[in-house]
Amino acid sequence: MQYIPLIPLSDLPENTHKSVKQGDKTIALFHYEGIISALDHACIHKGGDLGEGFIQILDAEERYVACPWHGWQYNLKTGKAPNGYKDRQALYDVIVQDGMICVSEKPVKDAFRAEHGSDPLADLRSLNYQTTATSLNVLGISTTNMNRDLPRPSTSETALQNALDIAASKFGAQTKIIKLRELNFRHCEGYYSRHEKACTWPCSISEMDENDGMNEIYRSMVLWADAVILATPIRWGNASSLYYKMAERLNTVQNQITINDKVLIKNKAVSLIITGGQDNVQGVAGQLNSFFADLGFTFPPFNYLGWSRGWIAEDMENNYTRFFKNRYVKRSVVDLVTNTVKLVQQIKQMDASQLQTPKPKISEAGSLSE
Ligand code: FES
Repeated sequence: MQYIPLIPLSDLPENTHKSVKQGDKTIALFHYEGIISALDHACIHKGGDLGEGFIQILDAEERYVACPWHGWQYNLKTGKAPNGYKDRQALYDVIVQDGMICVSEKPVKDAFRAEHGSDPLADLRSLNYQTTATSLNVLGISTTNMNRDLPRPSTSETALQNALDIAASKFGAQTKIIKLRELNFRHCEGYYSRHEKACTWPCSISEMDENDGMNEIYRSMVLWADAVILATPIRWGNASSLYYKMAERLNTVQNQITINDKVLIKNKAVSLIITGGQDNVQGVAGQLNSFFADLGFTFPPFNYLGWSRGWIAEDMENNYTRFFKNRYVKRSVVDLVTNTVKLVQQIKQMDASQLQTPKPKISEAGSLSE
């Protein structure tokens, strides 16, 4: 067997690990419990650098490196994933010769990526759009938060339900409402901050947990909806915190443009219902609209319905009644839906296959040496 010298042994003290580049190979070297081992550095999941991974020592046989991107684990001695998984990272033989760590020219065990049964995210992975040339699927997303055991009237959510009812009765739309508070979903865990390619589609968290509630949003918003109507209360001058939790998890959609030059949201419209006892309707609309613009949504004219009663309107017990007695609200819900549906009917005729994206792309970021 041919061996390639990599680095002096003194450059890899006990209890350390790192990746070393040699020609076109990069090898992750590990020195733990008196043993030096070598794995291909690029994780078989999405390419995270195992030389920057976390070491987990359970006992003499069970020593793993966990990938720094999403935590896949590989045994340092065998390259194998933990029990129950058949995946394996490429493993190299190691010798120390004349004080140099040398690794076999070729892996002694090749990498192996196992099929993990049927893929529960196959529809998202292959973007099985459910929209058609004539569909009119209107998705309502309610972001208000309240104790599920103590429900109370919500201005934003009731107006949203009215809007969906109008979309169905007046325009024959298929409608669906998602209440974010009923979805159990994790916060975005910010894998992008480690490496841009660590933010994946479907979301890394969805890949870890097929039951994560955001999968319902991904399916409904990306694959099913022609139009989205999002309703939020105003909290401290901003949208609901649940909205922001969802928005952060939609990084996975926007990052596809940045990383892969791939637009997932095309020919879709968004409108907003923003209600608060106090003010900042325009501020919230501006923030939400800039977010949805970044995903690729189109806006109908006057795409938000706002309601607030001003700084000193602290009589919240009257808010709900005033909201629904108000002629402006009754009319503007109808107007909002009408404008949204009319826009959808137009943009569905547009050819978006060559859609331009004046957004930053990773290929334009430049390199450190420039
Ligand atoms: S776990 Fe390694 S790249 Fe995802």
